[in-house]
Amino acid sequence: MDDGNGGPGIRDAEGVRIEGISLSYGCAKILDGVSLAIRKGSVVTLVGPNGCGKTTLLKIINRLLKPDSGRVFVDGSDISKMSTHRLARIMGYVPQGHRTSFPFTVKEVVITGRMPYVPAFSTPGKEDIKKTEQVLSLIRIDRLSDHAYTQISGGERQLVMIARAMVQEPSVLLLDEPTSYLDFRNQIQTLKLIREISKSRDVTVIMTLHDPNHAMMFSDEVVLLRRLNGNGAGNVVASGSPEDAMTPQNIKSAYGVEVEIVDVKGRRLLMPI
Ligand SMILES: Nc1ncnc2c1ncn2[C@@H]1O[C@H](COP(=O)(O)OP(=O)(O)OP(=O)(O)O)[C@@H](O)[C@H]1O
Ligand SMILES: [Mg+2]
Repeated sequence: MDDGNGGPGIRDAEGVRIEGISLSYGCAKILDGVSLAIRKGSVVTLVGPNGCGKTTLLKIINRLLKPDSGRVFVDGSDISKMSTHRLARIMGYVPQGHRTSFPFTVKEVVITGRMPYVPAFSTPGKEDIKKTEQVLSLIRIDRLSDHAYTQISGGERQLVMIARAMVQEPSVLLLDEPTSYLDFRNQIQTLKLIREISKSRDVTVIMTLHDPNHAMMFSDEVVLLRRLNGNGAGNVVASGSPEDAMTPQNIKSAYGVEVEIVDVKGRRLLMPI
């Protein structure tokens, strides 16, 4: 994950660098000195048990939450010093289980992703509408364009929020459980699409997933996290290539679950024992 040289290489300035992030809610410490270096254009998946702090970490990266200590850099810039406008352009965020009670149409919800590019007191222009329509058909939800966002299914809402983040054209895309409400086909399609976008547009993707096999199949790197248990061990059990991070020993350490690795047509899969 890091360049391993210890020194500040050129790539060090790019991507997302998280340095010594700690956060407590009240007296409950959730994150303790988390440091990660995430290469520009890579797809990195955070995995770990419920409540270990994945959403909290994404919110800190997006500056929705201020850490007690530590810093986050995007392409070399400290996010705490960035203007809100710049942050809104470079960082796309799809939260876990999004809900809204406003009866906007799907197209209207997606086009709000263009707002960081629309001059003050203006409305979205032709180019913004074109980009919105392109993304709606790329994600294959164009048939829902004129439906009310409040009257579509949970999975469809999730796809709409992913579309909204895509029209924003961010350089960092944060996705919190992007597949949780999706059917089998849409899970695979969406994960493939996320990879394609990352590769074709050099977008750094940081997402959370609960399925360790999806994390293995669709990530360049995996960060396996655990809940703090007061014994001094940090949150990060392992980080690196899916093969290196998702070993049975590391999974046991994060979840307390025994798994074995099976080889299916050259692909490594994790199976509970
Ligand atoms: N606003 C809050 N106030 C107090 N405690 C919170 C708050 N938000 C989260 N927590 C607690 O912090 C811990 C980490 O929460 P977080 O949402 O980051 O976990 P997570 O890893 O995303 O879990 P999940 O896999 O269930 O989504 C949990 O124990 C949660 O109950
Ligand atoms: Mg979460």
